[in-house]
Amino acid sequence: MQAATSRPFAERQPVQTVAIAGGKGGVGKSNVAINLAVAMGSSGHEVLLVDGDLELGNVDRLLNLRPRHNLKHVFSGARQLEELVLAGPKGVSVIPSDSGALEMARLSQIEHAGLIGLFSELPTDADTLIVDIATGLSESVLSFCRAAREVIVVVVDEPTALQDAFATIRVLHEHCQVRRFRVVANKTDSSRHGLDLYASLTQMTDRHLDVLLDFCGSIPFDPQLKQAVCQQQAVVEAFPRSPAALAFRKLSGRVARWPQPQTPCGHIEFFVERLIQADASTR
Ligand SMILES: Nc1ncnc2c1ncn2[C@@H]1O[C@H](COP(=O)(O)OP(=O)(O)OP(=O)(O)O)[C@@H](O)[C@H]1O
Ligand SMILES: [Mg+2]
Repeated sequence: MQAATSRPFAERQPVQTVAIAGGKGGVGKSNVAINLAVAMGSSGHEVLLVDGDLELGNVDRLLNLRPRHNLKHVFSGARQLEELVLAGPKGVSVIPSDSGALEMARLSQIEHAGLIGLFSELPTDADTLIVDIATGLSESVLSFCRAAREVIVVVVDEPTALQDAFATIRVLHEHCQVRRFRVVANKTDSSRHGLDLYASLTQMTDRHLDVLLDFCGSIPFDPQLKQAVCQQQAVVEAFPRSPAALAFRKLSGRVARWPQPQTPCGHIEFFVERLIQADASTR
């Protein structure tokens, strides 16, 4: 377990919060989450990576971590959130979820809000929170995406994946008031391919929704990423010169340039107290 850091509460800065969503299973959400986290960790960011897939979490497995406790134990009251924090690669702190926890599938919006609130108490110096989001449209998907400042939607070039990405955007917009989505095209065979995918998705949203889509780049289909998965490592660490690793580093540079949240957005969100504090100090 990693020792919790202890900067005084008053000095803690607002945290950038990024949810990695996508709708369809297997599009690469978890790999985008872990590689973005590790790439940001490598470039000096303090990253907290949360496995938001409460039913079928696998971030710990992808990073070869051996958690003794996970978010299920926080919900049951057996553990405190800070007791879960594991030391991942490049200084990334990881909060794991269980795999096969049926009871976690039935959590309500209020229970999710309770968990999101617990992050405010976490003694962490993280400047960036990355949440790996589950497949589908369960309450955890809605609650975690609503509570994050940025939502990355991962798409691949399959009609069903595009359809699911569109459905996810529509539901997050209509039910969670998310208006801006960052798009990452995964498993592409060229950067043109990624742009075409983005254009297809934009065509669908422009026709039906009042949302903003921002293209954040493509991650190529890369056999070395698969190999890294088998080795239980992030590809940015296992094969830093691979095409996928290069693309993840580019993505991490882009995410690092997004404006840091400064004021609370008026609904339940991660680390809201810091935003309230930052907002008050500028008045
Ligand atoms: N850029 C890529 N190049 C090659 N293979 C990839 C790439 N991205 C993902 N994969 C493959 O796709 C598999 C699924 O990826 P991942 O587990 O990240 O998807 P997911 O969207 O999180 O899935 P789930 O729905 O299970 O949460 C990986 O194990 C890997 O084999
Ligand atoms: Mg996943």
